[in-house]
Amino acid sequence: MTDKKLRELLNDMTLEEKVNQLVQIPGSYYDKNASVTGGIENSRFSETQRSQAGSILGITGAKTLRQIQETYMENHPHHIPLLFMLDVIHGLRTIFPMPLALGATFDPNLVELTAQAAARESAVSGIHVTFAPMADLVRDARWGRVMESTGEDTYLNSLMTAAMVSGFQGNHPGEPERIAACVKHFAAYGKPEGGREYSNVELSEHALREFYLPAYESGIRAGSELVMASFNTLNGIPSSGNHWLMQKVLRKEMGFDGVLISDWASIEEMIHHGFCQDEKEAAKKAIEAGVDIDMATTIYANHLAGMVKSGEITEACIDEAAYRVLRLKNRLGLFENPFKDGDEDKEKEVILSGEHRALARKAARESVVLLKNEKDVQTGKKLLPVNSEEIVAFIGPYVQSKGLHSTWAIKGRAEDAVSIREAAEENMVNENVMFACGCGMMNRDNGMILKRHIDETLTEADLGIFDEQTEKQIEREALEAAAKASLVVLCLGEHRLLSGEAASRSDIGIPMVQLELFRKVSEVNPRIVTVIFGGRPLDLREISEKSMAVLEVWLPGTEGGNAIVDVLTGAYNPSGKLPVSFPYSVGQIPVHYNEYATGRPLNGKEDIAFYRSRYLDIPNHPLYPFGYGLSYTDFVISPVELSRKTIGGAEKSLKAFVTVKNAGSRKGTETVQLYIRDIAASVVRPVKELKGICKVTLEQGEEQKVEFEITEEMLQFHDADGRLTSEPGSYLLWIDNSSDTEAGAEFALERKEHI
Ligand code: NOJ
Repeated sequence: MTDKKLRELLNDMTLEEKVNQLVQIPGSYYDKNASVTGGIENSRFSETQRSQAGSILGITGAKTLRQIQETYMENHPHHIPLLFMLDVIHGLRTIFPMPLALGATFDPNLVELTAQAAARESAVSGIHVTFAPMADLVRDARWGRVMESTGEDTYLNSLMTAAMVSGFQGNHPGEPERIAACVKHFAAYGKPEGGREYSNVELSEHALREFYLPAYESGIRAGSELVMASFNTLNGIPSSGNHWLMQKVLRKEMGFDGVLISDWASIEEMIHHGFCQDEKEAAKKAIEAGVDIDMATTIYANHLAGMVKSGEITEACIDEAAYRVLRLKNRLGLFENPFKDGDEDKEKEVILSGEHRALARKAARESVVLLKNEKDVQTGKKLLPVNSEEIVAFIGPYVQSKGLHSTWAIKGRAEDAVSIREAAEENMVNENVMFACGCGMMNRDNGMILKRHIDETLTEADLGIFDEQTEKQIEREALEAAAKASLVVLCLGEHRLLSGEAASRSDIGIPMVQLELFRKVSEVNPRIVTVIFGGRPLDLREISEKSMAVLEVWLPGTEGGNAIVDVLTGAYNPSGKLPVSFPYSVGQIPVHYNEYATGRPLNGKEDIAFYRSRYLDIPNHPLYPFGYGLSYTDFVISPVELSRKTIGGAEKSLKAFVTVKNAGSRKGTETVQLYIRDIAASVVRPVKELKGICKVTLEQGEEQKVEFEITEEMLQFHDADGRLTSEPGSYLLWIDNSSDTEAGAEFALERKEHI
């Protein structure tokens, strides 16, 4: 439809019809299996509001959605199609690794492909919009949604957010098998006080602009059709009513012209925050801030039309929001084809296709991070990859578990997943492998979780609810297997229900029931490889100390078992890097590599001087740093060389380069990382900031030059007046394979080129 026609349609609609375009109802009206992420009272919506609401969230399936669309359009006074939205976060039915794990691939192209595949499965199932990607920067592992972010770094998050938007939308969301993206949660939802879900955010405008906003902006620049407001208050103002944030920063500065949607009931929650005294005030503040759609409540539905009539808000405000919703429908081509790609036959063909499974396996293995791999003193060889002659005991609750997807894989099914046991039986010599569960996955005291998530797909082992006799028996079997084996692969970690929305934890350790098993097994057989699952960086101190090798495998998705066995056996050489620091202990949070120096910094890790910024009981540095990850081969990176020592005047940039050599015994992939520090500036700058990545794959003995171009733009920051600028002076630069790197090269910016 032309824009002119769209405007004519808008002009022809009644005020109530326009308001209803701004109302999103929960899918549970239509389907009891709809995903629900907040309290709902369906009965709140009147029949007209329900039958004319502009969008629905939480349901999928070509047949169901087609039926709903047909009836809806038939009854709608202007036969306007509905929008179907769903949280497709890391896959629809083919589940890719959770977003934090995707961050660990350091590979935006691959991440784009996973989003594209997710879009394809969703589109053929009738979905038009996904509530992804989540661009929130996270530096607190206690927060359950750390799994849904791509980590602690502004640059990496920006690359990944843009990649996901492109993967979902392609060049245009109206194209076949694409859906519209929604960058969320605007803004700074990833920094709740104390890591506690839905808690408030206090953040200086400087830090907001410098570290938190760029990833959202990157998604907007990539063309995201929607943005979602966050639940939190930001410096005292809930986002859904934050005029400055939405009108000035989002709409004006970032130029976002698409649909701004609230989070689930976040407009209504402004009353609970103590920011609005009643529903009418909440409606006014939200619509005037520019929030176009009210997700899952009747605030807009009940109040906006009346407030226009009484002159409390203008009709222009409603028109603007309704136009944006209609324009989104038009961009998706829904006026011509309201079902878009929804097609039952295609669903059968596309969902869980061989191609998608292969991509899920590739993404999962590239997300695995090898944290430790010690040499065996007897054989003189590293423990991993597992030598084919080893007799391997796979022990732990994750050996058989198919719960390899996060709680945000809302349409993911455990039965589709490949467990470690299945993969090992398929890919390893059967006589050489044994399997034992050993213990349950959760401590018994996780009763609250059990009550909330009664899910018949969860096994007793998943939940750790064995009777005492069974507990003893499975532990005995595990210890017997450990004693018989030459090598133990312990598959441990956090249950998937312990991360995600509303799943913050104050303790980020391995559940005690599993830690006890770990301790007992390590007494029987110290040749241990520990495979760690979970939705967040866990406290791995003890595991890491007592295991000879450690693999972080996150929540790897449908092909998780295959991917992990590929890595264990060496069919794939691990290449993942940590997108987030792994804290030494929960008391170290927040810990991130790109911190500011203090006036009394440590002089190196071994500094024991007293009056220093430090803890008395733990180191300052994390257990495993950002950007870290080992390989089965050895890479040697040469000292950094610079093409010149200065940028400025006619010299717009300089080149920094290293040579990367595969000095080990097999092919492998290294992620080369560029970090920069502004040594002294008018506002202090982080001790290091990631500014470039380059993945190189080298055969044994092969070497390659890796070059980065350093431009003035890369040195820009927000000064004390909030201006984006760069300042002349000296800079340090590192090129290495982790953020934990010492030897930098120095260069200078000679004159200011931008104000
Ligand atoms: C609440 C979550 O915060 C948001 O991320 C999600 O998209 C919506 N609910 C819809 O399910």
